[in-house]
Amino acid sequence: MSKTILQPVAEIRSRIAGRAARVGIIGLGYVGLPLALLFSEEGFPVTGFDIDAVKVAALNSGGSYIVRIPGTEIQLAQKRGFKATDDYSAIREMDAVIICVPTPLNEFHEPDLSYITGTARSIAPHLREGQLIVLESTTYPGTTEEVLIPLLEAGNAAGLRAAREEQEAGFHVAFSPEREDPGNDTVARRNIPKVIGGFGAVAGDLASALYGSIFNRTVPVSSPAAAEMTKLLENIYRCVNIALVNELKQLSHRMGIDIFEVIDAAKTKPFGFQAFYPGPGLGGHCIPIDPFYLSWKAKQFDFRTRFIELAGEVNIAMPYYVIEKTTEALNAQRKPLNGSKVLVLGLAYKRDIDDLRESPSLTIIELLRQRGAEVSYNDPYFPSVGRGRQYDLNMTCTPLDNLAQYDCVLIVTDHSAYHYPQIVTESQLVVDTRNATRGIDSPKIVRC
Ligand SMILES: NC(=O)c1ccc[n+]([C@@H]2O[C@H](COP(=O)([O-])OP(=O)(O)OC[C@H]3O[C@@H](n4cnc5c(N)ncnc54)[C@H](O)[C@@H]3O)[C@@H](O)[C@H]2O)c1
Repeated sequence: MSKTILQPVAEIRSRIAGRAARVGIIGLGYVGLPLALLFSEEGFPVTGFDIDAVKVAALNSGGSYIVRIPGTEIQLAQKRGFKATDDYSAIREMDAVIICVPTPLNEFHEPDLSYITGTARSIAPHLREGQLIVLESTTYPGTTEEVLIPLLEAGNAAGLRAAREEQEAGFHVAFSPEREDPGNDTVARRNIPKVIGGFGAVAGDLASALYGSIFNRTVPVSSPAAAEMTKLLENIYRCVNIALVNELKQLSHRMGIDIFEVIDAAKTKPFGFQAFYPGPGLGGHCIPIDPFYLSWKAKQFDFRTRFIELAGEVNIAMPYYVIEKTTEALNAQRKPLNGSKVLVLGLAYKRDIDDLRESPSLTIIELLRQRGAEVSYNDPYFPSVGRGRQYDLNMTCTPLDNLAQYDCVLIVTDHSAYHYPQIVTESQLVVDTRNATRGIDSPKIVRC
């Protein structure tokens, strides 16, 4: 074995072991920024890359744009050497590069890999031998090998290739899915096991060594595709189970049964049951989107993913169910939805986070408006809301005073900052899509 070929791998191994490996994180959003801070906390020199100049400037001036990450954390990381940049030539200085860019759906509900391909084209010219490149963005099985690696190889002027074997020269590529659950502080990030699929054993070992420095457990799998599929299985499992419980909620409602009481009873079973909760619809950048990455890819194999399609159908219909129940609740008070004043409580797609992506509240507001309701909203995380992917709501947050002026207060997101007994006392009618008013006994509440 030639010394010159082995040297870069040995060097990166020893740099990881000594926490001297320079880590570049591409995409400083909800996933990338916390990951950058975690590596920094553990003593690694970290550089963040983002094409959004506003984010880069905010970070370099010690500020944060994510509510749950205070500016003080950025400032501490800066003292440890963290910096942000939009200059890809600095990729060359990195030992490991972790890609955390978005993977949305396009207007035809198909995977939009443009952020991954854009990143690959931007970093390819700056790659050097021995570097480790890890993709963390959620995507369909095959993306790392069929999309990322060919672009990295094609764009590299030095002709470097993704190395499969220890003896091969080149860079090393792995896929490792992000498993963060925003707003859930019950499991520390480092206690969430990290699944890793390397393109070849060396890449897998290097990625395991790197992540093993900050996560308490790594879970190596045999290939990037197995790791990509693992992430999709986890999210499809959630999506299907949420759809199931959303469907059973609607049936229970007709049968006069409280689904939340049923779930609480069922979850006392010590095996074979995991509690999922119904709601006004799916939101976020993961559960409403990721399953469709797989159903799209499945078509290439002449396969229909029927559970995914069905779950999507049920979950997408939930905002319409909320509108139906709100209309009925107003009707019971001899009021039409058309012309009624409705206050939507909570815009975020789930409790206590500042993320609006795919939030069902946006669809609900749009549907209420289409039906002639006069809609206001309150959400402590959003002073205003403008043009989004689907809707241009153009609204500002209404203070939580004078609740009696609304014909209906509609709880869409159960933020813990809200004082629900007081909201019920002051409102004429409360439609609760989250069981936020559990334990409050009032004829003003309609739970749906
Ligand atoms: N948010 C979550 O809870 C979560 C959880 C698990 C997995 N994921 C996955 O992680 C990935 C990232 O999600 P996110 O929520 O952090 O997205 P995000 O939109 O919050 O952040 C992505 C960042 O990437 C930047 N970016 C886009 N193109 C770029 C490029 N070419 N070069 C550099 N930066 C670029 C954007 O400016 C943005 O700052 C997605 O694939 C998502 O499915 C997200």
